[in-house]
Amino acid sequence: MAISEALAAEPAVIDPDEFARRGYPHELWSRLRAEAPVLRVESGPGAPYWALTRHAEIVEVSKRPEDFLNGPRLEVVGAAEAPGIGTLISMDPPKHGLYRQLTSRAFSPRAIRALVPRVEEIVGELLADLGDGESFDFVARVAAPLPIAVIGEMLGVPREDWQQLFAWTNQTVAATDPEFRREGESPAQTQARAHRELFAYFAELREARLREPRDDLLTLVAQARVEGDELEVVAALAYYLILVAAGNETTRNAISGGLLAFIDHPAAWQRLRAEPALLDSAVEEVLRWSTPVACFARTAARDVEVGGQQIAAGEVLALLYASANRDERVFQEPFEFRIDRRPNRHLAFGMGEHFCLGAHLARLELSALFRQLALRVEGAELTGPVERVRAGTLGAIKRMPVRTLGAAGEGAG
Ligand code: HEM
Repeated sequence: MAISEALAAEPAVIDPDEFARRGYPHELWSRLRAEAPVLRVESGPGAPYWALTRHAEIVEVSKRPEDFLNGPRLEVVGAAEAPGIGTLISMDPPKHGLYRQLTSRAFSPRAIRALVPRVEEIVGELLADLGDGESFDFVARVAAPLPIAVIGEMLGVPREDWQQLFAWTNQTVAATDPEFRREGESPAQTQARAHRELFAYFAELREARLREPRDDLLTLVAQARVEGDELEVVAALAYYLILVAAGNETTRNAISGGLLAFIDHPAAWQRLRAEPALLDSAVEEVLRWSTPVACFARTAARDVEVGGQQIAAGEVLALLYASANRDERVFQEPFEFRIDRRPNRHLAFGMGEHFCLGAHLARLELSALFRQLALRVEGAELTGPVERVRAGTLGAIKRMPVRTLGAAGEGAG
């Protein structure tokens, strides 16, 4: 059967309903990698677009930011009919580099190392009262609060507002899920409202920091200058938005996707407990395995050939990181969860010009969490079904009821 006929009988290449029902359609993507690695998708959500499923082409495209633009469309399937508001991730060269520089030092390995004690402390608080045998939603109790707390502190947002920040980011990055929408709203309306409310909130904080600067990201961005000029208010607000939105759902899903991987592979959990030196490679494998960002889009700036296909200026390419991270050309036994995998050239953080600004921070959060969890619990099991978010850009877990086994309680770590 030709691949086009086979596709008609399969879920769409990027299908929010399928992501919500079963997670990523790895069987289909494996077939595309083998038979049609640069495929023109003509129907289904987000169509038309080119689906890139192999590691090599995704790397190639990501390394040519002048030819393949992040603006105007970052999501292949999403609520992104809303007019672009010009966040860092939707910018292109040369503007992109100028804006990235403004905060890159705050996310450098050195700056992130300084946060280790505080992140370990936050993780310790979150895990402190994990009782043995008790069932709870791991997303609500651990995976969601950790990244919110960390970025909330870095920004300098008052603690009592973290929950509200969390709600706005859900509405921003997962407006396609009906649970995050108000009645009668379309995904685009939900997203636009969340942006408005978030902007109003940050506008006040920005004013406050201009009056009374502090050592935080709110102040850094409020006082920033690009080529000698102050940032326009809306540019500063868009910057806050991307800092809040980019790191929450993603890190949350690496955390819950990671625990799910360990629940499905208990021997890997026992090995991590016995060999703490494997922590770093285990974190990379969790990132590869979970790949929280399923895909981002690029738009061809000119007529160009990729993987033997002619792509016309203006056409959209879907970079399927979640497929690249199972590419048998790059990873030995890609469907095995190996916490000692080295090298591990996964694309969970993308590649090139837009490589995740928060990658070191996300790694720190993941290692602190799995390090302390491994000290505290002998294992974990699911106590109910895993519920997934209906979204086309993220592979996201909404609820994951678990029970920890042999929890050591407070004092461990
Ligand atoms: C496991 C967690 C995370 C994953 C999987 C992830 C993934 C990604 C991906 C795939 C990209 C885009 C790459 C591209 O377009 O080429 C990105 C960009 C970005 N990420 Fe992350 N991210 C994570 C955590 C974070 C955190 C904690 C922050 C903190 C603020 C953050 C901030 C950003 C920003 C600001 C960008 C845009 C960078 C640019 O356009 O130059 N991310 N991330």
